[in-house]
Amino acid sequence: MAFILPMPSKLSHIGVLTSGGDSPGMNAAVRAVVRTCAYHNVGCFGVYQGYQGLIDNNLEPMNARSVKDIINKGGTILKSARCLEFRTPEGRKIAHDNLKKNNIDGLVVIGGDGSFTGAMIFQKEFSFPVIGIPGTIDNDIQGTRFTLGYDTALNTVIDAIDKIRDTASSHNRLFFVEVMGRDAGHIALNAGIGAGAEEILIPEEDMGLERLLESLKRSEKSGKSSSIVVVAEGDKTGKNVFEIASYIENNLPYYEVRVSVLGHMQRGGSPSCFDRVLASRMGVFAVESLLDGNSNKMVGIIDENITLTPLEDAIKGKSKINNNLIRVSDILSI
Ligand code: F6P
Repeated sequence: MAFILPMPSKLSHIGVLTSGGDSPGMNAAVRAVVRTCAYHNVGCFGVYQGYQGLIDNNLEPMNARSVKDIINKGGTILKSARCLEFRTPEGRKIAHDNLKKNNIDGLVVIGGDGSFTGAMIFQKEFSFPVIGIPGTIDNDIQGTRFTLGYDTALNTVIDAIDKIRDTASSHNRLFFVEVMGRDAGHIALNAGIGAGAEEILIPEEDMGLERLLESLKRSEKSGKSSSIVVVAEGDKTGKNVFEIASYIENNLPYYEVRVSVLGHMQRGGSPSCFDRVLASRMGVFAVESLLDGNSNKMVGIIDENITLTPLEDAIKGKSKINNNLIRVSDILSI
């Protein structure tokens, strides 16, 4: 492989933290950040428990060997937190003082939109260089086609639904499976298609309970003895999965109905190869972007290219679902 010279840098140390809900691939990204710093002869600090670690001065120097054997691990070795204190000017001032005290002059924040909002305010207040890496299983960040952990979570979900289908078809049952996605239906829609679900309920589209009822009636008439309905936790009907299930059970007495909430198992597990490679690319690019003088931006992947998007745009709204997938699901669940 070609040897690329380390970049000359004005930065002395870079801090890296993971914040908000953890996602598979965060460790691979931490590894990439730490090792890219080592490659370019820049010091690196791992900050524990997200922004809370900046406030508590809970951080330590890391070198290339500190991140051995973590590329395959789920969760985050740096721990994560949703830190209320960092939302106050006083908390952010303490965080800044601690960064200065440790001679850290650049920060990589791995997290979701809440973490990026904090990063944006912080960098504006103190002109402190910050680059974000999108880490959330929800895949709901603008400015990137994929977020870290999404691919792994999809594979976890289809694996779980495949197992549920075994028991559903053995008992001729109708299963409602709730998946994560408070505001976004990416997991529900893609895993639903991947696992061959009969219906998929998402936050972006109001299917309406009547339509669901009619569709399940049609399924039964067409000879299906069991069915799977995937429900995103924030689906548009405004009802939770248990309420939806009992509405259907009351109106379709011939189906025996069960509910399965997959919950936090969707956030765990060893990252897929896709997430490991994505994390590695994003980690390298985040550090090199900081060394290049960039700030207040998020690393993303668009059309196979690694890109930078202003944090302001990344948090402006949720990434859109692909409407064509709804049609594909409708056609194939006939
Ligand atoms: O943002 C990721 C996410 O997994 C959402 O899909 C889910 O609603 C939420 O986190 C759960 O958060 P917590 O771990 O705080 O319960």
